[in-house]
Amino acid sequence: MRPQTIACLLLYGLSLVSANPGATAATPDRIASIASERCEACHGVGGQGNNSMFPKLSGQNEAYLVQQMFNFKSRARRSSVMEPQLADLSGEDIVLLARHFSNRALRGTPASDPQLATMGRKIYAEGNPASGVAACHVCHGPAAHGGQMLPRLAGQHAEYLELQLRRFIERSRTTDQTLMHSVAMRMTDEEIRAVSHYLSGLN
Ligand code: HEC
Ligand code: HEC
Repeated sequence: MRPQTIACLLLYGLSLVSANPGATAATPDRIASIASERCEACHGVGGQGNNSMFPKLSGQNEAYLVQQMFNFKSRARRSSVMEPQLADLSGEDIVLLARHFSNRALRGTPASDPQLATMGRKIYAEGNPASGVAACHVCHGPAAHGGQMLPRLAGQHAEYLELQLRRFIERSRTTDQTLMHSVAMRMTDEEIRAVSHYLSGLN
């Protein structure tokens, strides 16, 4: 395990046990109101997504959500939009917000272009042996539901997936531990569009 991952797991563990005495308790009501008054404006009701430039959070793996929020907070993953959203939230708030969204069901949008989706399915399952693109399912799982530290891709907005793949290529998303850079840098524009279209249609 990399030191970064271990540090993150430690932070996660600590934040679960060390409630901040004196701070406002992160009651379920308080978390639900932060979610509805703040997060849902961009991420949609229940994190289901109402704007394709903002990722769906519902059904996303809890530990992955926690890690990404700490990445934004520490500015390891740069986002001028997300940083201020988390600035006043404690580690405990972040852990509970992650659980709040992770526990909701996520629904995909049926693929509108079956031909593009078929091409995407092939890349997801087999990669592109000729150009050295690794098969996505090896890490993101057969149904694209990911694992604790690996993001779920099934049902995510296609535009958001494309945007992140381009960020991995240009290395502006710096917290990928080089894994996604080496996968995405070998993909053509068409492959990026196809795999994103396919994934957005899954449940
Ligand atoms: C003003 C719009 C906006 C608001 C409000 C907002 N977000 Fe975000 N969020 C974004 C954008 C944009 C991204 C994508 C950042 C990027 O990669 O550039 C994002 C990304 C994320 C991610 C990473 C998801 C992934 O798949 O990697 C998490 C987790 C997240 N937001 C949680 C939250 C939470 C929790 C709240 C409420 C406390 C919140 N956001 C409020 C716009 C917003
Ligand atoms: C060797 C393992 C591995 C393989 C193979 C892999 N990924 Fe990833 N992927 C990751 C990891 C780890 C992350 C989380 C990176 C981070 O923490 O920023 C990730 C993140 C992503 C994200 C960002 C999701 C979000 O919610 O922001 C997308 C999109 C993505 N991968 C797409 C793909 C596609 C498409 C393929 C196949 C062409 C693929 N990945 C193959 C390990 C992998």
